[in-house]
Amino acid sequence: MVFCYHLTTKFFVSINIKNISAGYGKKMVLSQISFEVSSGETVLLTGGNGSGKSTVLKCIYSLLPLWNGEILFENKRIDTLNPSDLIRLGIVYIPQKNFNFENLSVEENLKIAGNIYSKNERCDRIEDVYQQLGLKALKKRKPFNLSGGEKKLLAFGMGLIHKPKLILFDEPLAGIDNNNTDKILAIFNSIINDPCLAMIIVEHKDAVRDIFNRKIKIELGRIVN
Ligand SMILES: Nc1ncnc2c1ncn2[C@@H]1O[C@H](COP(=O)(O)OP(=O)(O)OP(=O)(O)O)[C@@H](O)[C@H]1O
Ligand SMILES: [Mg+2]
Repeated sequence: MVFCYHLTTKFFVSINIKNISAGYGKKMVLSQISFEVSSGETVLLTGGNGSGKSTVLKCIYSLLPLWNGEILFENKRIDTLNPSDLIRLGIVYIPQKNFNFENLSVEENLKIAGNIYSKNERCDRIEDVYQQLGLKALKKRKPFNLSGGEKKLLAFGMGLIHKPKLILFDEPLAGIDNNNTDKILAIFNSIINDPCLAMIIVEHKDAVRDIFNRKIKIELGRIVN
């Protein structure tokens, strides 16, 4: 049984994005974005190309500084932290474009993702990821020999190795065929009922319709619903 102290609070707010604005150079892209996501909840960010969805995730993961506003995780301010601090808090980000080391094997990529843990713990966590994602058969393969769907699974595994409390996943189904879409949806279905886990997913494909609890639409960098 998974122990979850959050269960003691019925609506435990995992992340609270408060009135954030941000942009690139002098160009403002996000304007006064506010929303909360509670543990046990999956929120879908929707909106057209260039509306600012990926930018929201980058701000949460401290890849882009805020111009205004603040972000709280479990009631503590996190917008001044860096990504490695955020991983330790249980926040993982899986970017829109696959991020893995092309010249290293699947296992080596997982080892690098898990290098903050002791050797034994890292081995256990990698085994868990293999079980969860069915990646073991690919462990010696290098990403340049993997299909797009397999690379996506590896990127997912590099996040899941941290047993996250908050997953930020940018377009999990982009470039994925029906088989791998079903596989990724099955993994989501196996984790979405975890009361300790919150997810923010950006996705254009309708196939995610059964996994989110709430939808937030962004247009021109503002929430419109
Ligand atoms: N690194 C960057 N430098 C400058 N402008 C950027 C950068 N990244 C994104 N932008 C701009 O910020 C705006 C929002 O981009 P963002 O990537 O957040 O959109 P998106 O909603 O994720 O779109 P898509 O659905 O196409 O992925 C766009 O106008 C984009 O051109
Ligand atoms: Mg995007």
